[in-house]
Amino acid sequence: MSSTRREFLRHMTAVIAGVSAHGIPVVAAAQQNPAMPTPRAAALMKAFGLTLPIFQAGMASIATPELAIAVSAAGGLGAIGIITDAPERVRTLVSSVKAGTNRPFAVNFLLAFDPPTLGVALEAGAPGIQFAWGIPSKESVAAIRTAGAKMGIQIASAEGARRALDLGADYLICQGTEAGGHVQASTPLQETLPRVLEAAHLTPVLAAGGIADGRAIRRALVAGASGVLIGTRFVATQEAGAHSDYKNLLIRANAGDTVFTVCFQDGWPNAPHRVLRNPTFSMWEAAGCPPPGKRPGEGDVVATQAGNPILRYKTIPPGPAMTGMITHMAMYAGQGVGAIRDLPSAGELVERLWEDCVAGL
Ligand SMILES: Cc1cc2nc3c(=O)[nH]c(=O)nc-3n(C[C@H](O)[C@H](O)[C@H](O)COP(=O)(O)O)c2cc1C
Repeated sequence: MSSTRREFLRHMTAVIAGVSAHGIPVVAAAQQNPAMPTPRAAALMKAFGLTLPIFQAGMASIATPELAIAVSAAGGLGAIGIITDAPERVRTLVSSVKAGTNRPFAVNFLLAFDPPTLGVALEAGAPGIQFAWGIPSKESVAAIRTAGAKMGIQIASAEGARRALDLGADYLICQGTEAGGHVQASTPLQETLPRVLEAAHLTPVLAAGGIADGRAIRRALVAGASGVLIGTRFVATQEAGAHSDYKNLLIRANAGDTVFTVCFQDGWPNAPHRVLRNPTFSMWEAAGCPPPGKRPGEGDVVATQAGNPILRYKTIPPGPAMTGMITHMAMYAGQGVGAIRDLPSAGELVERLWEDCVAGL
């Protein structure tokens, strides 16, 4: 950390403590620059055993155990993501994170798919379960409660929040349309968050969508969120299980390079998602966005993994071991992508995000 940054952080710490560097009360400054963490964020951190109110999104194959371990070790909440993985693989993934850190972490399930391995994740000792794209069954909730794990549910409206709260969610993730990956939201975060906060009352709400730097975290916390959940920014880290071509494009992209579409729907029909504009999208758009069966280049093999072909419109993002036309694949990215300009380790990133949040940078 540079000495200027250190000095600035020292100053901010003094502001947060309510005194200037000379011991003079700076209440007015503190009101203009709310102390970080906010009381809500501090309560979340205490309840979840964290030192920072930063949650990493469970992004299927991209959210490797190494990524989850690094985020949790840095004081945030790391996550791995499960879609249709076999029970043995789920057991191995959860056990690897447990072996790598004694800090809390989450296992994410997409409810657009049946979560048959929830029991396996709990048995393997997952301390937290996170759901998106649906509301879990009462049986799933009972299993989570019996295991003593925490439960978070990603929602995108006040109505969704109420349904999740009725089931006893320990925290909510409020997603806005700025988000990368699959987007269940239909309104931007700044519109949805106040409504969800009102519905959630005292239950912690994490803001998600387009948050990729300290300033955006600060904005979310000042708006009343207890924490943030970040996806895209963590894809551009050393530990993320994404192809280097994809990571390098994230470093160069801006918000306007992302599109909200249903282009990459083979594997998950009609599910809206936000991705980087690329040759597959441009070709499909130029053809008038036709449905499956009528799309240009539909049978093209764009990449292979362990000898297995990956066709053009698959939902699967480019992994590190894939070869071929990587940049023709679905490269999920949120609207905060313009804040990504490097490829740090996840631990270094978490530290920097929080320093910048505290400093208001
Ligand atoms: C590459 C990628 C994969 C994602 N996969 C999942 C997933 O498997 N499950 C899930 O709940 N959310 C997933 N998300 C969405 C996140 O939960 C979250 O809403 C989103 O990342 C927040 O926006 P941001 O990417 O701008 O930070 C994914 C996001 C990205 C970028």
